[in-house]
Amino acid sequence: MNIVILAAGQGKRMHSNLPKVLHPVAGKALVAHVIDTARHLSPQTLCLVYGHGGDAVRSTLDAPDLTWALQEPQLGTGHAVQQALPYLKGNGTTLILYGDVPLIQTETLKRLLHAAQDALAILTVELADPSGYGRIVRNDARQVVRIVEEKDSTVEERRIHEINTGIMAMPTARLSEWLGRLSNNNAQKEYYLTDIVGMAVEAGLPLRTANPKFEWEVLGVNSKVQLAELERIAQRSNAEQLMEQGVRLADPARLDVRGELVCGRDVYIDVNCVFEGKVVLDEAVEVGPNCVLKNACIGAGTRLAAFTHIEDAVVGPDGMIGPFARLRPGTELAEDVHIGNFVEVKKSRIAAHSKINHLAYIGDAIIGSRVNVGAGTITCNYDGANKFQTIIEDDAFIGSDTQLVAPVTVGRGATLGAGTTLTKDAPPDTLTISRAKQISITGWKRPVKTKK
Ligand code: UD1
Ligand code: CA
Repeated sequence: MNIVILAAGQGKRMHSNLPKVLHPVAGKALVAHVIDTARHLSPQTLCLVYGHGGDAVRSTLDAPDLTWALQEPQLGTGHAVQQALPYLKGNGTTLILYGDVPLIQTETLKRLLHAAQDALAILTVELADPSGYGRIVRNDARQVVRIVEEKDSTVEERRIHEINTGIMAMPTARLSEWLGRLSNNNAQKEYYLTDIVGMAVEAGLPLRTANPKFEWEVLGVNSKVQLAELERIAQRSNAEQLMEQGVRLADPARLDVRGELVCGRDVYIDVNCVFEGKVVLDEAVEVGPNCVLKNACIGAGTRLAAFTHIEDAVVGPDGMIGPFARLRPGTELAEDVHIGNFVEVKKSRIAAHSKINHLAYIGDAIIGSRVNVGAGTITCNYDGANKFQTIIEDDAFIGSDTQLVAPVTVGRGATLGAGTTLTKDAPPDTLTISRAKQISITGWKRPVKTKK
């Protein structure tokens, strides 16, 4: 079986420098959705027809299992498939997909392929408003006899609601024979793939139609408005899948998954959260409102409070993060770690039961277990040229408003007095403090305003 994905169309109505098929839906390029769905069918050949200005398409998507056929200029859907013909294998079936119809489902394609054994099978749908589409013309016996493009149609044909989705499958040998006979004698002066329908009828080959389970599977993208519509459909369908797996969503309409979200049992997600890349939420994780998580793993029972932002980080089980916490790349938190409001952590490992609850910056640090980091603590990890490491050993207590000038180590069980600027290692089990001596001046008078 061969699959050909047509992706050479210009997409003028997107008004964008980005090729149409590279625009994202649910965090993935339109055509990448189609490629992934095609891969589920394990084709022998997976050929992409790409067009003028399409080098970006090829370089963005290239993979060892893809074959590329350049179509330049673009002279219609039939001409597009002609370009793929030299790469198609064997006597089996060829399936034609569109790169700008991203939500087509594997199950629907399996049904279409089943119908295409020794037949031309067309995926059709009845639309309330069929305008713009090619119409399926049937005879009195309800057999398909041809597809007529709207621009070539009569007033009567325009009343037909059954449309050609463009997705079809047929015996490869027949396809190659028919493509050679296409002409561009029509309103658009294009080589129409749809003209093969008449040829199949003429050759006495059975014509069969299949329908998608959902109408949205065959919606295409021609504009930013349609792109946004498909985004909502994709998100809704994804939210439903998550709920069916047992995830509790405060509002399925206010969840955005732009990648892959894997959830354990009894996960709860509040409104307006965005998940990018691959995110794993283990059992009973709770995500508060307005959190953004990208490429992150969150351990069982951890609670992320509102406005938490996490990227390329691992959070252990039973943690409490946020509100307003930021975990940057390279952060690894063990179990029961508390990261509070306005705390930023970067490229740091924090061991079990440690707490950094208020207003702190922890960068390039290794922090042991049961450490308490006071409010306003800052690791001074950067001298303007290089980055240095801070090590805080188990059971240390860091007083508020401390600066740890790296490289520096705080020993096990050490205490740093509030306001310390630590420039040398702090010994274990000892109070270290750097602070100007406090004095009180008796008899001191506040200045008063001088009279003019
Ligand atoms: C085509 C069908 C029409 C169907 C409609 C569904 C033909 C003649 N018409 O319409 O019956 O209802 O799709 O959307 O087939 N493409 C190329 N190269 C080209 C032209 C198109 O790769 O030279 C690709 C486009 O990128 C797109 C797809 O083919 O993915 C369909 O092209 P488009 O122009 O949107 O479809 P129509 O010709 O309007
Ligand atoms: Ca066209």
